[in-house]
Amino acid sequence: MDALIIEGPARLKGSVRVSGSKNTALPLLFASLLFDQEVRFENVPRLWDIETTLSLLQSMGTESHWDKATGQVSIFPQVREKVAPYEWVKKMRAGILALGPLVAKYGEARVSLPGGCAIGARPVNFHIDALKQMGVSVEVEGGYIHARVKSRLTGARIVFPQVTVTGTENILVVAACAEGVTTIENAAQEPEVIALGQVLLAAGAEIEGLGTATLRIKGGTLKVPEAPIVIPPDRIEAGTWIAAALVTRSELTITGCDPAVLASIIEPFRAMGAKIETRQDLNELFVEPCSVYQPIQVETQPYPGFATDMQAQMLTTMCMASGRSTIRETIFENRFMHVAELRRLGAQIETHGNLAVVDGPSFFQGAPLMATDLRASASLVLAGLCAEGSTKISRIYHLDRGYQRLDEKLIGLGARIQRISE
Ligand code: EPU
Repeated sequence: MDALIIEGPARLKGSVRVSGSKNTALPLLFASLLFDQEVRFENVPRLWDIETTLSLLQSMGTESHWDKATGQVSIFPQVREKVAPYEWVKKMRAGILALGPLVAKYGEARVSLPGGCAIGARPVNFHIDALKQMGVSVEVEGGYIHARVKSRLTGARIVFPQVTVTGTENILVVAACAEGVTTIENAAQEPEVIALGQVLLAAGAEIEGLGTATLRIKGGTLKVPEAPIVIPPDRIEAGTWIAAALVTRSELTITGCDPAVLASIIEPFRAMGAKIETRQDLNELFVEPCSVYQPIQVETQPYPGFATDMQAQMLTTMCMASGRSTIRETIFENRFMHVAELRRLGAQIETHGNLAVVDGPSFFQGAPLMATDLRASASLVLAGLCAEGSTKISRIYHLDRGYQRLDEKLIGLGARIQRISE
């Protein structure tokens, strides 16, 4: 297993390019199951979760080619096994995204039920209940979701009790192939959902309301979009770079990003006192830190609110502010695993249920740390960058699942980081 050793404190300099979005690429790669011909992708990030997805698709009979140097992926969907096995879904819960496309295209799917993960129980009952409303019988047997279309897929009025990103994605795909009209209320408005909807539109689906809480989808026959599917930049990676600039008190240009989807991520960093210039025409951000950061209050919310996937990185940044900051995590019940690790560096953070109270500024001293999940790992890397001395972060595979070689990009900006295997 790899570990990172970071020598801090780091001062970063220059510009960094954001890679393709993990959470956009995953549903789109699974959506290739909807087609019979080659589906082409560009700007696919080099991540473990992409590796896992392509392996999972291959286990179904699909062939794929991934040119890692250019980020181009071709998928030739020829499904023999309509099964997403436990061996892959246990590695990556996003394997649940096979459910919608398999049911939509083949009328049948056996998808391993994802277990809980470090950040919460993360059930998939909303996906299952919505499928049942659309003419699908669903049974859970032997740890698998077994879904089968009873006679035909039919449009329905789906009201999600809580916003669910992958739930909206699965049902959007099914609705695009169902007979009649489906409405999805309390739908996720995340840019990742919009990107999937746009590909379905290019494939011939009729969808209204993308980017709002109510989607109206008229099902029909889909055909492969003619142009390659280009994965947009990762907004969470862009946000992580803003945090990196702040904690290291470095000026940073963040290129290849889409400032339009970053408003709710940028806003609290600005409230802390950072100057963040958005250059929409250049797809760039320019971040300028300041000497004293103001404490702030933040609450995670579904998009367009502040992303839960930025909570851990924000928490590390709050440790640098002068005074008491708070962050309330409203999406996942157990997403403060990084707090205990940050405390080992000297952070003063108390948690009360879903509220973290941070007293700053802290002066971090390097220490050995353990990564527990993807975004927690990113927050520990940020902490290591501003800590005095050496910070070793073990189990860094979590980071590699979702960030394209964050350590190499940081080294390119002047950080002193070593990757070792232990
Ligand atoms: N929920 C249910 N039942 C369901 C579905 C969701 O109770 O059937 C609950 C969840 O337990 C959670 C909340 O609803 O409390 C929201 O979960 P959601 O379904 O939106 O999460 P997800 O679709 O499993 C995606 C991202 C996550 C991101 C969340 C929230 C992908 C592949 N994953 O997960 O990304 O945190 O939305 O924005 O898109 C990450 O990249 O690090 C990551 C965890």
